Amino acid sequence: MTRVRVNYFDTDVAATYDEGSVEMFDPAVLGPTVELLADLAAGRPALELAVGTGRVAIPLAAHGVSVHGIELSQAMVDRLRAKPGGDAVTVTVGDMVDTRVPGEFGLVYLVFNTIGNVTTQDDQVAVFENAAAHLVPGGCFVVEKSLPILRRLPGDERFAVFDHTEEHVGIDEYDTATQLMWSHHYSSDDGGATYHRTSVPFRYAWPAELDLMARIAGLRLRDRWADWDRSEFTSSSTKHVSVWEKIGP
Ligand SMILES: C[S@@+](CC[C@H](N)C(=O)[O-])C[C@H]1O[C@@H](n2cnc3c(N)ncnc32)[C@H](O)[C@@H]1O
Repeated sequence: MTRVRVNYFDTDVAATYDEGSVEMFDPAVLGPTVELLADLAAGRPALELAVGTGRVAIPLAAHGVSVHGIELSQAMVDRLRAKPGGDAVTVTVGDMVDTRVPGEFGLVYLVFNTIGNVTTQDDQVAVFENAAAHLVPGGCFVVEKSLPILRRLPGDERFAVFDHTEEHVGIDEYDTATQLMWSHHYSSDDGGATYHRTSVPFRYAWPAELDLMARIAGLRLRDRWADWDRSEFTSSSTKHVSVWEKIGP
């Protein structure tokens, strides 16, 4: 079956991606991310699915890890290429659902909620299978994903506020029948004009569903943390960093 994948990160989005995600470039975020990924790579090559502009891949490569990326958007790859250190990361343009690259990897990782950009269960399972196909036995697949705030939704309510400041109001919209969600962002400029932007669709999944996808792909859960600092994952956690290991040989 031929999949048609919409590229939501074309030239205009790629041009402002880094400044629009500035908090994700904070060393307080990237430091523990790179440290944990480098530990899991354990001297072996790493593959980043949806590598984007190299936010994580470039500092991970600078840390001494050999990093390859798969990325759907050529415009995002062009941004990566233009950065200092970008030439240390090799990239294949393609869909992480089914793009294979040569070589074997000790680590495959998919961060910043991007498993949700794949909006069907079948395709999310295929991402797990593709990750597993690139791993050596004992190698790790890491996913970083925020948790849907469904517990805040009473009755048939579809909307939950996730941010409310002077500058920004963020509201998540959930369709629990399809497990699709969108984020609505309202922001104001200095003149008082208000702007509304709705995100691309995401498919959310509880960690337990991801564990089953991992099992289908021949992976088993090794660790689940609340964040990159390896803090404990609890019922109050708002995100998870999960590590599945390829069952060998
Ligand atoms: C939120 S950005 C994350 C980029 C980078 N991993 C980071 O942490 O900054 C999502 C990226 O996923 C890419 N992407 C979305 N769906 C994809 C797919 N099916 N295959 C490959 N890349 C995909 C987008 O083009 C975009 O660059």
